[in-house]
Amino acid sequence: MNLRELLEALSRRGDLAVVRRPVSVDREAAAVIAALGGRPVLFESCQPGSRRVAANLLASRDTIALGLGAPADGLPARLVDALRNPRQPLRTAHAPCQEQVEPEVDLEALPILTHGPRDAGPYVTAGVLIVADPETGPNAAFHRLLRLDRHRFAARLVEGRGTHTAWMRTDRDLPVAVCLGAPIQVLVAAAMSPPAGVDELHIAEALAPTPVVRCQTVPLDVPAESEIILEGRLTHELAPEGPFIDLTGTYDIVREQPVLIIDHITRRRDPVYQALLPGGPEHGLLMGMPREPSIIDAVASVCRVLRVHITPGGASWLHAVVQIDKQHPEDGRRAIEAAFRGHGSLKHVVIVDADVDPFDPRQVEWAIATRVQADRDVVVFPDQPGSSLDPSAHHVPGRKATTAKMGIDATIPWNTPTIAPDRESFARVTYPPADPKTYLEA
Ligand SMILES: Cc1cc2nc3c(=O)[nH]c(=O)nc-3n(C[C@H](O)[C@H](O)[C@H](O)COP(=O)(O)O)c2cc1C
Repeated sequence: MNLRELLEALSRRGDLAVVRRPVSVDREAAAVIAALGGRPVLFESCQPGSRRVAANLLASRDTIALGLGAPADGLPARLVDALRNPRQPLRTAHAPCQEQVEPEVDLEALPILTHGPRDAGPYVTAGVLIVADPETGPNAAFHRLLRLDRHRFAARLVEGRGTHTAWMRTDRDLPVAVCLGAPIQVLVAAAMSPPAGVDELHIAEALAPTPVVRCQTVPLDVPAESEIILEGRLTHELAPEGPFIDLTGTYDIVREQPVLIIDHITRRRDPVYQALLPGGPEHGLLMGMPREPSIIDAVASVCRVLRVHITPGGASWLHAVVQIDKQHPEDGRRAIEAAFRGHGSLKHVVIVDADVDPFDPRQVEWAIATRVQADRDVVVFPDQPGSSLDPSAHHVPGRKATTAKMGIDATIPWNTPTIAPDRESFARVTYPPADPKTYLEA
């Protein structure tokens, strides 16, 4: 589904908040988005310029499923399937994103939001950058972009990720297309990290048909149904990027990052600009959820995996709960190691049995309370490559952060010396059903 189709579907369900009065892009819109929790919203008149801005579109699993035309409980299987079976999109001549060409580049005419009190400036937060790696080919990923002036951004490239690797492989400017208001399957695919050489647009096509069109000034294909396309180049000039509120809800540090120059802009006739609240529920879900299939894949190679949840309490990035169907005494430990392979930024992981719901924090804590002995079931891996987002990690500029990682095997132990390994002793007791109304006086 493209962005405007999702807006219509949300509106039909009565889920879309519409703000008709003028709202400033300078902190006011962000405050309204935050106050709405995760509710999707369309601002009809963002100022200056009276532009349309949509936000909170993918803040729940339910709306992501809606946008992909999948049942909510079928979402993990759909993502795993797309990750395993990418498909080449078709080129089209009909490209809504090229309906109009801007006569001149003026990034100040776009309704780019300034979000927080200490932010360095207005930031594009839902832009998907498409580049072609000189060795491995096209790559699509989200990158926040700090607007520097009418033509330039500073782009945050996390070291070692696809865009950063492509940029490092050339001494010249790297051609770039920034897709604003990309179709939903593109937003989900761009948040995934498939092996190098797998184009995220092919994963998007496996999720839903994603026709592409050639850009007008750079040799790159972009999703034809995007709202706005910025064509330009990532230079080797650096500029300070940050402060900016990150996924953890804390301020990220200021870094020297590459300058992105925009040379050409195409768009729909009446584009909707997509905003995404830094540190908000949509940011978390879009970061974390697309990593669940990678963890499922990795754990499936060592034992029977049922469900995986990257939890919101762990900043939707650093913590996961993995539910397995335990068949062997070592399955819990194997699942821990595999989960860390499946998502490199994962810091803490809990493994639970089939009778514990990984989406219910209370049940997960109960499993830790009743099934874990720390000296037997907790594994710590010191000095591992970790997430740049974790303020407690060890950070050295220009290098990957390092961290300790911890896995908790909260599955029923199979070899306790004192208790026979029977599931009965560890099962939650349920009482027979009874209807209280039958027993209470009216
Ligand atoms: C909302 C959102 C914002 C993101 N911002 C950035 C960013 O500023 N810089 C970055 O390097 N990655 C960012 N990411 C992560 C990349 O999109 C993601 O890691 C991608 O999977 C990288 O894959 P790649 O290694 O194939 O390039 C963001 C992801 C999301 C969902």
